[in-house]
Amino acid sequence: MNIDVFTLFPSWFDWYLEQRHVANVLALGHRLETVDLRASTPLRGGQVDDPPFGGGAGMVLRVDVVGAALAERWGADAVEGRGTRRVIALAPGGRALDDALATELAAEEDLALLCGRYEGFDERVHEHLATDVVSIGPYVLAGGELAAMVVCDSVLRKLPGALGHADSAHEESFSPALGGAPEYPHYTRPAEWRGHGVPSVLASGDHGKVREWRLEQSRRRGSGES
Ligand code: ADE
Repeated sequence: MNIDVFTLFPSWFDWYLEQRHVANVLALGHRLETVDLRASTPLRGGQVDDPPFGGGAGMVLRVDVVGAALAERWGADAVEGRGTRRVIALAPGGRALDDALATELAAEEDLALLCGRYEGFDERVHEHLATDVVSIGPYVLAGGELAAMVVCDSVLRKLPGALGHADSAHEESFSPALGGAPEYPHYTRPAEWRGHGVPSVLASGDHGKVREWRLEQSRRRGSGES
């Protein structure tokens, strides 16, 4: 899978790219690269934004700046190029990221993530350059960079070979294997801590019972019982 992240702050991703689990995925042949939106701006002095028409606080990231960055990266027209891959604009008002969306994106060969700043993008970025607008939650971040990292993290770990144990991503919180419910609780040693033990079924050696117990715990958590 090839992910291009378009951002005004490429260096934010240096730290993320160094993390072991990300480096492991990239070592499998996947690619995650940043593209500096300022590097290809058609405006003088590295300008990328302008005040909103109609007035109001803040600055808006220009559509021609985003279009120029995509066109330079793809070597093709940005509006036509979006037909060849998912182009995801990160914005608080977009489709909420969930496990199903992460799975959907993990099946893509190429992804472009657009990080907004200031008051966000000119609406024409959403309308004509992006295929999707995605939000990581109902709150406003200073920009799309952290949101892009969250999207990358949720997607990359779904790629075959990304996790040490092949089953880890199969039966985890919100996965179809658990009917979309949160994962069941885990316990490890010590078996007794400050008088708190672990559920005896987990040490019973009866795999059928363990499985039954886990599914029930997951179901309860999902229904808010617990
Ligand atoms: N940019 C600013 N806030 C955001 C959010 N909650 N999700 C995605 N992108 C954002």
